[in-house]
Amino acid sequence: MLGCEGMYSLKNKVVFITGASSGIGKALAKELTLLGANLFLCARRIERLEILKQELSSFGTKIIVLACDVTKEDDLDNAAARALKEMGSIDIVIANAGFGVSGNLEDLSLKDYRFQFETNVFGVLRTIYATLEALRKTKGSLVLIGSVAGYVGLPEASAYSMSKFSIHALAQALYHELRPHGITVTQISPGFVESEIRQVDNEGRHHANTKDHTSQYFVMPAQKAARQIVKAIKKRKRVAVITVHGKIVVLFQRHFPWLVDFMISLFSIKNRPEPK
Ligand SMILES: NC(=O)c1ccc[n+]([C@@H]2O[C@H](COP(=O)([O-])OP(=O)(O)OC[C@H]3O[C@@H](n4cnc5c(N)ncnc54)[C@H](OP(=O)(O)O)[C@@H]3O)[C@@H](O)[C@H]2O)c1
Repeated sequence: MLGCEGMYSLKNKVVFITGASSGIGKALAKELTLLGANLFLCARRIERLEILKQELSSFGTKIIVLACDVTKEDDLDNAAARALKEMGSIDIVIANAGFGVSGNLEDLSLKDYRFQFETNVFGVLRTIYATLEALRKTKGSLVLIGSVAGYVGLPEASAYSMSKFSIHALAQALYHELRPHGITVTQISPGFVESEIRQVDNEGRHHANTKDHTSQYFVMPAQKAARQIVKAIKKRKRVAVITVHGKIVVLFQRHFPWLVDFMISLFSIKNRPEPK
């Protein structure tokens, strides 16, 4: 590992990823394996993780998979303890597990907002608490997967946006807090990326038959997004917005917020409906 301005070599590094059973997390697991990293992968659907492990087994890197629910108090502590026991250290933590609650405030309840935060915010905090000591020892990297929704609030996405604005704030504060310990904090904010997220309902259940209505023109292939995320990790970047449309939205929100408001209103842009 080089200094803050240098490039990480990921060969033989231990990477701990939450939410590796589909979408961006799964694509990251594949990309990191190609670069020789050893992986500790968690998600609730262990059968998917087992299949992924099998798929990647020919590369000769070490992969451990574990069923883990980021909303459960002890799951991440157990996962981190197992990772340390079997892999010796943790160099990079990618807090990726997440989903999106959809709906108007009036159609949602406190329960929906709480569940959104349990996964997307407290799940990330649990991941950090469980792995921070290990990252201190390796002077490693903490990667938080936020969203373009952490910069712009859309109608019917208040719960999701609130959770991702929180990740944005957390990443900013931790960047300063952890820097003296040699830990890099990288905030990744994807726009639309190919995954299952738009097929997941407000209770976090996946509906495989739900059609994703997002224009495919805007949706970046998961593997391409993973390559860009890994590049940001290797460069120990502080922030990276993934997808061109995402970069434009973040830039416009910063400099011309009135224009973003105007576009949202003109094109009646809103969040996708909840899959059923
Ligand atoms: N795809 C996009 O367009 C996009 C855009 C911006 C941000 N993001 C962010 O990217 C991250 C990954 O999402 P994705 O798009 O790849 O969606 P995805 O395909 O639905 O993957 C989400 C992952 O999170 C895991 N997960 C969800 N709830 C969990 C829980 N309680 N405990 C443990 N794991 C849990 C899922 O695994 P199990 O169901 O097996 O537990 C799955 O592996 C999320 O934080 C999301 O907000 C995605």
